[in-house]
Amino acid sequence: MRDYREVNRAYWDERAPAHAASPDFAFDAYATDPARISDIVRFDLPLLGEVSGVDGVHLQCHIGSDTVSLARLGARMTGLDFSPASLVQARQLADLAGVDVPFVDGEVYEAVDLLGADRFDLVYTGIGALCWMPDITRWAEVVATLLRPGGRLFLREAHPIVWALDDARTDGLVVIDRPYFEIDEPTVIDADDGTYVQTEATFSTTLTVEWNHGLGQIITTLLDHGLQLTGMVEHDSLPWDALPGQMRPTGGGEYQLADRPWRLPHSYTLQARKSA
Ligand SMILES: C[S@@+](CC[C@H](N)C(=O)[O-])C[C@H]1O[C@@H](n2cnc3c(N)ncnc32)[C@H](O)[C@@H]1O
Repeated sequence: MRDYREVNRAYWDERAPAHAASPDFAFDAYATDPARISDIVRFDLPLLGEVSGVDGVHLQCHIGSDTVSLARLGARMTGLDFSPASLVQARQLADLAGVDVPFVDGEVYEAVDLLGADRFDLVYTGIGALCWMPDITRWAEVVATLLRPGGRLFLREAHPIVWALDDARTDGLVVIDRPYFEIDEPTVIDADDGTYVQTEATFSTTLTVEWNHGLGQIITTLLDHGLQLTGMVEHDSLPWDALPGQMRPTGGGEYQLADRPWRLPHSYTLQARKSA
């Protein structure tokens, strides 16, 4: 088995140009509309509040649409991702949008070495980020170290129960088939020749190596690393079609189960603050 980072980087590198060209990311709109921000950051706004003037880092920033959106709201953002092809697109988007955002090529577990300790007022991450981390404890240590005293984590992520579901059912059943808790053994998926946005592109990399982390594991390790929980909201939608054939769009780029969506927490927003 190849190193998980090599496998996952190849997967994201191949998809980055298609994502940047997709109408779902709407890069052109950032050039023509100075008020344009991503659907994801727009969804976050009521819980995120004011970010103007803060030093923020977006971990696993992908092609930079949320990073650039936060910069447009006045945050001094840095983006970090280990996919060079994603960062090429992110830098082009920042140019298009006319914002100054450094995008750093690096692995999350090396973020402190690359960016420094006690550097940020805001660590922003999520939306398909935690599933690529084998060890949530090491991730929490990185988040806690990047933050200045009094700084905060803003995490909106798919709910771990969603990552545990079988996403290939054709019988309409919602079935738990993958780990809910973090276990050493990764979930290796070798079937994903598509992606989560509209595109005509076809992909040859189909392999991903992923881990789930239970909600209690995520919260407990953040508390263990000196963060105080300041908010925990579960949502009845998430921003991609996670169960194809079983979900319906609800507007603003969000999707939920078409049948009785109240059965499932789809995503959550967790906020935590480092002690001052
Ligand atoms: C689903 S995308 C994140 C999407 C992002 N939230 C957005 O909406 O644009 C996952 C990103 O995580 C990055 N990634 C995966 N594992 C990583 C790691 N170990 N270190 C740094 N980046 C990583 C990938 O390169 C990819 O850009």
